[in-house]
Amino acid sequence: MKALITAGGHGTRLRPITHTQNKHLIPIANKLMLQFALEFAQDAGIIDVGIVINSNDESIKKAFGDGTDLGLKLTYIPQDAPLGLAHVVKISESFIGDDNFIFYLGDNILVGGIKKFIGDFEKNASNCHLVLSKVPDPNRFGVAEVVDDRIVSIEEKPDNPKSDLAVTGIYLYDKNIFEAVNNIETSPRGELEISDAHQYLLDKGYDVSYSEITGWWKDTGKPSDLLEANRLVLDNIKSDSKGIVDKNSTVSGRVQIGANSRVINSNIRGPAIIGDNTTIEESYVGPYSAIGKGCTISGSEVEYSIIMDGCQINQVKRRIESSLLGNDVEILRSKTRPATHKFMLGDQSRIEIE
Ligand code: G1P
Repeated sequence: MKALITAGGHGTRLRPITHTQNKHLIPIANKLMLQFALEFAQDAGIIDVGIVINSNDESIKKAFGDGTDLGLKLTYIPQDAPLGLAHVVKISESFIGDDNFIFYLGDNILVGGIKKFIGDFEKNASNCHLVLSKVPDPNRFGVAEVVDDRIVSIEEKPDNPKSDLAVTGIYLYDKNIFEAVNNIETSPRGELEISDAHQYLLDKGYDVSYSEITGWWKDTGKPSDLLEANRLVLDNIKSDSKGIVDKNSTVSGRVQIGANSRVINSNIRGPAIIGDNTTIEESYVGPYSAIGKGCTISGSEVEYSIIMDGCQINQVKRRIESSLLGNDVEILRSKTRPATHKFMLGDQSRIEIE
């Protein structure tokens, strides 16, 4: 069993963060998003992992190298243009060979890993195994129509969905998927759709089985999805403090504090994570906050936010919440009068407030 993981695309709904950084390298609870998928693969006993990247993007290689640190053997597969998920599979044929494989969209975050789905695929001995999840907004996804426990049709982002079962970005295949991706036509939006490949398999009588995710799953397209994913992952962390908390500070709930970090005259309420070399002074850090490395937060309040490395938040009167700050963002006190603070800032952004 091999794994094929996507880490390309343009992350347009996450601009400006994605102007300067690949979406798959955005930290969720201080861990790079793509690392979750890689660790799931490793945990499932997979060693050979192909990562599909935009052809001009070196950042993923820089972050994960040849995979030795994670116990994986990584192969980078460049995609020249965003021609769809079935195109991703198509260009990966020589990497996969005759092996069975899991195809995992690197921006999907789930709890519990992928072992169960690999087990279900093997138990069913099917040609393709899809992982479905009930969603309130199926028209945003590939949608499976299920009759008598069998998938009978799959449609990509239908206007009138036949069910509320989204096809998540976790797919298991045998080599017959290559017949499908090599025989489907480009869709009206100019892509080779993975849903069309699945429908091809159904039409040709291949065995398509499925499991349903009962736990948490999210594809992280929008800032609010990232914050939700961050909340979910933080909900499962354990306390661990490597930093210094002075006697005037209170730390309650599950909180991780990185090495050389200092909490001075502050209140940290978990679940929250603070990276290495960060200083929190005269401040409140509330639940579901992930603060990166080398940040300074002083005289301010932060809650339910992702604050990446090297940020400075200084004397901000109102609590910052539901916010996503890129690397090296500075928010400093100024003379304007904000009634609320809600930020989505790219790398090196700087905002002055009262
Ligand atoms: C893609 C697939 C869609 C699937 C979704 C899961 O959509 O085309 O079938 O339901 O991933 O994350 P996209 O996220 O590219 O819009």
